[in-house]
Amino acid sequence: MTDNAIRQATAIAHPNIALIKYWGKAENTTENEPAVSSLSITLDELATRTTLTFDTAYKTDRLTLNGKPDTAKLPRISSALSVMRQLAGITTPCHIDTSNNFPTGAGLASSASGFAALVVAANQALDLNLSLQQQSKLARAMSGSAARSLFGGFSKIYLPHAQLEPAPFGSNYAEPVAPADHWPLEVCVGVVSEEEKAIGSTAGMENSRNTSPYYSAWTAGNDADVINAEALVQARDFDKLAELSEFSCLKMHALALASRPALLYWSGATMDAMRAIQRWRAEGTPVFFTVDAGPQIKAICAPGYGELVAQRLSELSGIKRVIRCRLGQGARLLD
Ligand code: DP6
Repeated sequence: MTDNAIRQATAIAHPNIALIKYWGKAENTTENEPAVSSLSITLDELATRTTLTFDTAYKTDRLTLNGKPDTAKLPRISSALSVMRQLAGITTPCHIDTSNNFPTGAGLASSASGFAALVVAANQALDLNLSLQQQSKLARAMSGSAARSLFGGFSKIYLPHAQLEPAPFGSNYAEPVAPADHWPLEVCVGVVSEEEKAIGSTAGMENSRNTSPYYSAWTAGNDADVINAEALVQARDFDKLAELSEFSCLKMHALALASRPALLYWSGATMDAMRAIQRWRAEGTPVFFTVDAGPQIKAICAPGYGELVAQRLSELSGIKRVIRCRLGQGARLLD
């Protein structure tokens, strides 16, 4: 591409929720390589929309997040974009206009949808013609979980599949496990707090790698958890996936809790909801929980149970609102 063109593209991407968690980066990685495999579901109703405008008339990159200029998040996004500008052989500044229809940085995976949308829009605007696997690798280098939002339904990052490639791609990428209509699970997100979390995932997982005594046990178990979870997804075995997914979630939080300083992402309302969900499941409602690096509770329900679970979640004290989602599509361009 020549450096005097105005190029624009808009993409949409959805957050994903890991059922088998990613927490920890490979030692000395320069490409944000994860230390563990992971498996996730991509949602539909929650979305990031991003328009990129590259214009030689601009002096610098600029970021507008939810309609307001944001200088704090600009450096990470600018340097991510520069990797793609370098692939295109240009240095043209870019105005990034992005919005989330859900709280940013509060444990709802806004970095996953944000960076997935950024890669897909930049690939188009800069005429890079990258394969999905290459886009997923670039998204992973920006934010590990973003690699999985390239795909809809169920997707995974399975470390033993990695093929070494030089920077900027690096090794690990996400790949599809099954499309959304294979098993249309429903998800109820119980919002406990709309505030940005105090310690983000990136810093939190580095802290765990450096200080948690459970770290090596954690990294040893995830490939097997992903293989097992994938088989349970293929077999649509809700009860066994519920047990395995809660195990992965609690294992990740045990690791985080045993870090120094401790990472305690739950609030009292998170814990109450976890107990309630386990009680509902014991009483026969097919639902399980997962929690990420924030206090929000995510209730994963078998098809047809979203309404009932949303109703029950909203009756718990401490749950401010409930967002109902189904499984959605991967990141894609918008006209
Ligand atoms: C708890 O993908 O946000 O949501 O690679 O440092 O950007 P970086 O981390 P990020 O971590 C996500 C952590 C998690 C679990 C998961 O999504 O697998």
